[in-house]
Amino acid sequence: MSQIPARPVLLTGASGALGRQLTRHLAGLGWKLVLTDIAAFPDKVPPGCRFERADLADGVAILRLAEGCGTILHFGGVSVERPFSEILMPNIAGLYHIYEAARREKARVIFASSNHAVGFHERATKIDADCQLLPDGYYGLSKVYGEMMGRLYWYKHAVENVNIRIGSSLPEPVNERMLSTYLSFADLCRFCERATLAERTESCIVWGASDNQRSFWGQDDRGRIGWAPVDSADSYAGQLSGVVTPDLATETYQGGPYTDIDRTRTDLATPLFK
Ligand SMILES: NC(=O)c1ccc[n+]([C@@H]2O[C@H](COP(=O)([O-])OP(=O)(O)OC[C@H]3O[C@@H](n4cnc5c(N)ncnc54)[C@H](O)[C@@H]3O)[C@@H](O)[C@H]2O)c1
Repeated sequence: MSQIPARPVLLTGASGALGRQLTRHLAGLGWKLVLTDIAAFPDKVPPGCRFERADLADGVAILRLAEGCGTILHFGGVSVERPFSEILMPNIAGLYHIYEAARREKARVIFASSNHAVGFHERATKIDADCQLLPDGYYGLSKVYGEMMGRLYWYKHAVENVNIRIGSSLPEPVNERMLSTYLSFADLCRFCERATLAERTESCIVWGASDNQRSFWGQDDRGRIGWAPVDSADSYAGQLSGVVTPDLATETYQGGPYTDIDRTRTDLATPLFK
């Protein structure tokens, strides 16, 4: 029988693709969830949970929603590359509101970071979680900011946080890159369970990928939360090998197509970071 957190869990981005998976899984374990999103919740709200619409830009609403919560699973915000002006309020101001709420409630933050925080590392190089941060756009930069916000609030205010650099969390991998980056919904759900229940996490970073043989990623802090993925993209290798794009940067760098959005550099015949 799975443990139930002592205090309710606030889940932002509840109406999104991953939020809906997490809601179903964690409510199924009997967890009390406070669900929030700027968009209406598209499913039936499970027993023991409540949903309230809010904008992450509204700090007062976030403080109120977090009242009494022991964990904030922060999955809300702009989840793709967009102009800076669209990222600013949800992903930058929103992060500050989440961390201020966590500070007040003495809650732990579990943050949906992204591989796009390090997207300009080459695929040929296996990197550890403490690698150089190399965002591949404004979205990735907002994830770097989120991870650094976690570090600041841990050192300054003892707010614990677990940052999962999610690769590609979809029903199944759909191209060759995802043979490296795929994270199954089930592995993600178990990760959130462990990250919430772990006794002490401090501020840590975990690669969000299933047990993929072709992973780009090495060491991280998963030992602190006692999580290891059980699924894998390996069985898709036969059908997805060769499913690639004609763009050199997309196929050279870990961030894939995001490295090509609005890119003006053309000297990619020479690897950028050597
Ligand atoms: N799915 C993946 O493969 C993947 C990979 C890397 C990182 N992530 C991160 O995981 C999180 C969830 O991803 P997803 O795939 O479910 O994305 P999604 O876009 O389906 O969900 C994000 C949710 O955030 C909500 N949102 C947007 N702006 C908001 C605002 N101003 N106030 C409140 N809510 C707002 C949206 O309505 C949406 O429901 C995101 O932070 C994303 O960056 C996902």
